[in-house]
Amino acid sequence: MWGGRFASGPDAIMEAINASIDVDRHLYRQDIVASKAHAAMLAQQGIITADDAAKIAHGLDTILSEIEQGKFTFERALEDIHMNVESRLAALIGPAAGRLHTARSRNDQVATDFRLWVRDTVDALDHTLADYQRALVDKALEHAGTVMPGLTHLQTAQPVTFGHHLLAYVEMAARDRGRFADARRRLNESPLGSAALAGTSFPLDRDMTARALGFDRASANSLDAVSDRDFVLETLAAAVICAVHLSRLAEEIVIWTSPLTGLMRLSDKFTTGSSIMPQKRNPDAAELVRAKAGRIAGALNALVIVMKGLPLAYQKDMQEDKEGAMDAFSALSLSLAAMTGMVRDIVPDAGRMKKAAGEGYATATDLADWLVRTLKIPFRDAHHVTGRIVAEAARSGTPLHRLPLAAMQAVEPRITDEVFSVLSVDRSVKSRTSYGGTAPRNVRTQAKKWLRKLEKEHR
Ligand code: ARG
Repeated sequence: MWGGRFASGPDAIMEAINASIDVDRHLYRQDIVASKAHAAMLAQQGIITADDAAKIAHGLDTILSEIEQGKFTFERALEDIHMNVESRLAALIGPAAGRLHTARSRNDQVATDFRLWVRDTVDALDHTLADYQRALVDKALEHAGTVMPGLTHLQTAQPVTFGHHLLAYVEMAARDRGRFADARRRLNESPLGSAALAGTSFPLDRDMTARALGFDRASANSLDAVSDRDFVLETLAAAVICAVHLSRLAEEIVIWTSPLTGLMRLSDKFTTGSSIMPQKRNPDAAELVRAKAGRIAGALNALVIVMKGLPLAYQKDMQEDKEGAMDAFSALSLSLAAMTGMVRDIVPDAGRMKKAAGEGYATATDLADWLVRTLKIPFRDAHHVTGRIVAEAARSGTPLHRLPLAAMQAVEPRITDEVFSVLSVDRSVKSRTSYGGTAPRNVRTQAKKWLRKLEKEHR
């Protein structure tokens, strides 16, 4: 491509470190579509002839089908996807191919291609996230009234419903989708026509190419357009947060399915065995989702460090933007699919969950609230009274709802046997009707709201 200035080819090591084709070949669709838009615009502006533009478009279509049918030979010596395509175009249509690169550089080309790729990826992720939400909501509706131990510090805190717990992740996924959507709005502008760094003297119609590629507008500063990769950083940051959310549910699945708690069970479809211990049912998929969050965070970290301190405009460092990002987005998409599968697959052991929910004096807050409501005791004092009752129950090894009334009255004489009505875990969750609370009624309302919302989307 630059034979005019060069007498000999590159050293093998130079070629090895310089080539990006193994990674950026994944941009082939975006590269071709952007080149077609550019050629059509050049023709409309009278910069190339309509005849050449038609040849170019036809040649690019041929290349697209060659690649899609696996008949295209990508060459390392041609460095990247842009030059692989252009070189093949020349072989297919001859000299007209040489006019495609008018008023364009690989710098605006790669910025355009990768924006398109990231945009496509974000759109696909949005669907994947919606599927994940649907799985969570279906399960939540099914288990709106299934009681489980709610934990803080991993200590039994208050009973909650499994449905409520699952809907917490639906909210997180909704914010994840919001973050991707925000990033998409900002990234959706066209660098094409910024050329190498300074723009071009040819009379381009940048709005035409922007429109043809589905961008909202053309970028306003050529230097910025070819040298920033914040659109990758921003979507990666959204991916990291999403992966962190997934890793938390993954960790919970590991805990829930461990024989130590035995709260839930994954089927054979989502467990693996051990090569030595025949009894094992390992939640490998959940563990791997937990781990992929590290890998995805690593990709963001790597690109932040690549971009830090780079002077304007394009620097070859920026070629390193794609491998980590592509790996991270595919890891996220696989993680989402695995989580969706596990959420659909997992079966809670309602009996054990209920029993565990009642352990550890989980309804102590209900007792304190009863003292406040019925005996008009200030909450701080009620907390103290309840603490003494719990200490007594712990001393005699009795759960709260089995403690004799006399034992409670020894601490607070005004307590009546009406108190027992609030000490069961079912009563406890049913009473949490405040907006956003865990009551089965709330869970059903919220789950149905989500189902309607999800049904309306993507239609
Ligand atoms: N393969 C390059 C990249 O991914 C394309 C841009 C190269 N531009 C250049 N002037 N060498 O960044």
